[in-house]
Amino acid sequence: MITDEETPLDGALDRFREVLGPEHVLTDSDMIAGYVRDWTGRWTGHTRAVIRPGSVEEVQEVVQICHEHSLPLVPQGGNTGLVGGSIPHRGEVVFSLRRLDRLGPVDEKRHEVTVGAGVTVATLQAHARRAGLDYGVDLASRDSATIGGTIATNAGGMNVVANGDTRRQVLGLEVVFADGTVASRLGGVAKESTGPDPFQLMVGSEGTLGIITAARLRLLPRLEAEPMVILVGVEHLSEGLDLLGPGSNALEFFDRSCLEAVIGQRRLPRPLSGDHPFYILVETRSTPEVPDSVEAVVDRRLWAYREQITETVNQIGVPVKLDVAVPLGRLDEFAAAVASLGLEGQVFLYGHLAEGNFHVNVVSNPDPETVVDRVLRVVVEMDGVIASEHGIGVAKAAWWRASTDPATLAINRQIKEAFDPRRILNPEVFWGG
Ligand code: FAD
Ligand code: MLT
Ligand code: ZN
Repeated sequence: MITDEETPLDGALDRFREVLGPEHVLTDSDMIAGYVRDWTGRWTGHTRAVIRPGSVEEVQEVVQICHEHSLPLVPQGGNTGLVGGSIPHRGEVVFSLRRLDRLGPVDEKRHEVTVGAGVTVATLQAHARRAGLDYGVDLASRDSATIGGTIATNAGGMNVVANGDTRRQVLGLEVVFADGTVASRLGGVAKESTGPDPFQLMVGSEGTLGIITAARLRLLPRLEAEPMVILVGVEHLSEGLDLLGPGSNALEFFDRSCLEAVIGQRRLPRPLSGDHPFYILVETRSTPEVPDSVEAVVDRRLWAYREQITETVNQIGVPVKLDVAVPLGRLDEFAAAVASLGLEGQVFLYGHLAEGNFHVNVVSNPDPETVVDRVLRVVVEMDGVIASEHGIGVAKAAWWRASTDPATLAINRQIKEAFDPRRILNPEVFWGG
């Protein structure tokens, strides 16, 4: 436990000011407030300082200061993470990386670009589109989520079915390690076989192994025609899988509770005349075969019903958010098992159907830890995964340690020890609590 008296933070603060300039060392509680509270409002931490380095050299220097004094730190991008991993739970210094926002030129021949870790997903998308290309990852937090944060969480999003997750887009990284040394692989060489790749380990490491300062990313050809967006009402989730085809860009679902909440809170019109337990949203480049018996409607604006769920649920109350995946053959079994738990409060189910992903959100339940335990127990019994795309953070750290096999856990401990022997990088994530 770090307390203000125990830390040599005062001396470090002076040195941060020398390196970054006083305007980039925030200590005023009003200025800090937005950096210590997570997006959902479930966690509020505390810190004496948020620092905002503007270059890799500055990141190196401030990391060295932290390393010298064994001062824990939390890297932060857009602070849209949903597992409590981007805020300081025990007084860690927050490293806000949003100023690392350099956009390199798009290599139009090779479909690649190098960008700073603080560039938002939306800014990268716009940059790529100006060159007739696109970025393969898209998610509703695009205006705030950064490239560094999406790599650190291996974010998924709406287009995984077509383009893969963030890991698939990463060609190389620049990383500052815990002792302030820097390593870079941004050269854009298409193929390399030079032994184990420490840069790959950064993907999904949630700020616990290094600070990502820049990335070389794969871009995709921009679709020539606008894809079609179709909303279908179904009785069973498995029916949604029949809509998957070679032209699918996205295959999403939400349940009746989500639709009613979005219609109510956002004042959107009812998209289908009937009432259905589940709704499937397909974005596709080829017309899928929709059986006549099924109610369906086609319109690009239908995305609003799916994309606005997260904010709508948060408007209703602070949610317990679970982000799991089960084998595709068990989708309806899982939905039924969650229903049969009879959880107190309002339960919302939605997610990325093609990956067997379920976002189970529970609002107004007095005992979040029990909700987590009961739902994750079902997931493990069904051979599912407890974290499908948001990561482990602090929300699932205890469960991750309990449900990971001993050999994998031991290797993970050794990796942490090798990269961060003083345990200064985001120490509460994976290993805290
Ligand atoms: P932050 O929240 O700031 O940080 C997330 C984690 O990454 C923390 O552990 C932090 O320490 C670490 N980190 C941040 N930057 C760096 C860096 N440069 N170097 C090292 N570590 C770093 N996620 C999905 O996967 N799919 C979705 O569809 C999706 N939709 C969302 C919709 C909404 C409305 C919201 C609010 C969130 C959504 N998310 C989704 C979750 C979130 O947006 C993603 O996890 C995103 O990747 C976080 O990016 P960020 O820049 O905000 O990172
Ligand atoms: C989504 O798919 O909408 C996101 O992952 C955010 C969430 O789970 O609410
Ligand atoms: Zn999601």
